[in-house]
Amino acid sequence: MKVIVGTKEEVVRKAAQRYVELLNRKPEAVLGLATGSTPLDLYAELARLCAEGKLSFAKAKSFNLDEYIGLEGTHDQSYRYFMDHNLFEHIDIRPENTHVPSGFVKDDAEAELYDAEIAAAGGVDLQLLGIGNNGHIGFNEPLTPFTSLTHIVKLTESTREANKRFFNSIDEVPTHAVTMGIHTVMLAKSIILMAFGTGKAEIIKATVEGRPTISVPASLLQLHEDVEVYLDHDAASLLS
Ligand code: GLP
Repeated sequence: MKVIVGTKEEVVRKAAQRYVELLNRKPEAVLGLATGSTPLDLYAELARLCAEGKLSFAKAKSFNLDEYIGLEGTHDQSYRYFMDHNLFEHIDIRPENTHVPSGFVKDDAEAELYDAEIAAAGGVDLQLLGIGNNGHIGFNEPLTPFTSLTHIVKLTESTREANKRFFNSIDEVPTHAVTMGIHTVMLAKSIILMAFGTGKAEIIKATVEGRPTISVPASLLQLHEDVEVYLDHDAASLLS
């Protein structure tokens, strides 16, 4: 893992350059995208660079990590809605080239079709990840098998608790989600993990310096050959 530390602004600008390089070299690149508060500044920077004509997503495709089960794309807490409003509407990507898992898959066999779609598009070139407080990536909670493909998950109470700030009450937070699996994520050619703030410092230490274990899903990224971890000084504060 390559760790890049700086102010949030600095690391966001550096991460954005990865997209400029990739899309200039391979305009039809396949991007794996994430939701949460962490990628928001990066998405704003990508929109700015796109408006300035420094990068174009016109031929790119995107596949998001996850979606809540039972939420329509028009629901303001669905990840489809989040992506449309925070990124897709501000860049030149074609809406039909953007993919978010359906929150209405009925079982894992149907969920896994997402892996086939990703493969048919040529596989993910650059996967963006945030990290949950318990080390989850996408919605792969601790103990998710290393071999997992896109599947339905029951959210842990800690994750529902962490995400309730976006809903009116905890009762409205969906109990299940559909997420790319760990194996799906590991198939990406390159991976960028971002984390900001002291709240993420402990889990970042376990991710970067702990031994790889399914108890901390993000630590398994140590087994991937091309991972960059972008941290602000707070998130990096417990690294030795
Ligand atoms: C959610 C998402 C993850 C995200 C995590 C952290 O549970 N499924 O993809 O990484 O939250 O969110 P935040 O970036 O808001 O800290």
